[in-house]
Amino acid sequence: MFNVEKFVKEETDRLRKCLHGKAIIACSGGVDSTVAAALAKEAIGKNLVAVFVDTGFMRKGETESVKRMLEKIGLNLHFVKAEDEFFAALKDVTEPETKRKIIGEKFIRIFERIAESEKAKYLIQGTIAPDWIESGGGARDRIKSHHNVGGLPEEMELEIVEPLRDIYKDEVRKIAKYLNIEVHERQPFPGPGLAVRVVGELTRENVEIAREANAIMEEEMQKAFAENKVSKPWQYFAVLLPVKSVGVHGDVRNYGYMIALRSVESVDGMSASYSKIPHEVLDKISVRITNSLGKKVNRVVYDITNKPPGTIEFE
Ligand code: XMP
Repeated sequence: MFNVEKFVKEETDRLRKCLHGKAIIACSGGVDSTVAAALAKEAIGKNLVAVFVDTGFMRKGETESVKRMLEKIGLNLHFVKAEDEFFAALKDVTEPETKRKIIGEKFIRIFERIAESEKAKYLIQGTIAPDWIESGGGARDRIKSHHNVGGLPEEMELEIVEPLRDIYKDEVRKIAKYLNIEVHERQPFPGPGLAVRVVGELTRENVEIAREANAIMEEEMQKAFAENKVSKPWQYFAVLLPVKSVGVHGDVRNYGYMIALRSVESVDGMSASYSKIPHEVLDKISVRITNSLGKKVNRVVYDITNKPPGTIEFE
């Protein structure tokens, strides 16, 4: 049985002993990096520099709310606006692993820049057990190179410290709750963000479509939770599929993209089953997406694939 109090005490003691100097951490606002940052801040205070990189792949309103949350924890924050840099690096890239590698590498280069100016020696990461097990760290074959493991360049100059390496998401959530961090209510969100929820090439327009569709899905799901129509899944989101199909808007025929809705039940992200969402709720999401995205999206589909064989994310 996981003992939160014991884990927090032992891990902060361990961090205090092993960190001799400044450390940086990339904070995405996700539960993993936020909890790792809170533990490291507990251990070394202002010697921890929390870096938030706005990649341009965040969800609607996320940058502002993450900033507020990180400030509330009292972190020494460094904000970087890097949207243009990311889009330029990903131009014409469609292969999912290449996308993840480029994003991972860009992230780390940005950190290195900041680490250098801060004279940091350590890079703290919110890696949890499924991240490295699925990236080839364990007995299993490599599945996806999660950006905080497989995308790291080999000549990394910072020493990596991973306080959550041996634990799972449900345990991380318990720590967040114990430390009174509001993030514990959030659903998991991949490091590369919406970049792996727009299948294929990343254009600003496509990312914006995925962002808007996702915001609509989140809003309608939250209404359904409040009305007890749906119990909260492990994860739910919208993905843009770059498949065009014929539709009709008013009396006019058009040719638009497809949005896939994904919602899964899971305990640790290692396996998952798709959520049995009532059609009434799916219907509302679909109508709102096609109404609000006008001619850009013609069709909304619901993914009924479990993991395995499908992964939770599409890329
Ligand atoms: P998959 O798609 O591999 O996802 O079934 C399993 C869980 O991991 C999340 N995920 C990530 N988390 N960095 C992360 O920290 C990543 O690059 C990443 N990719 C996927 C995913 O959202 C799901 O909860």
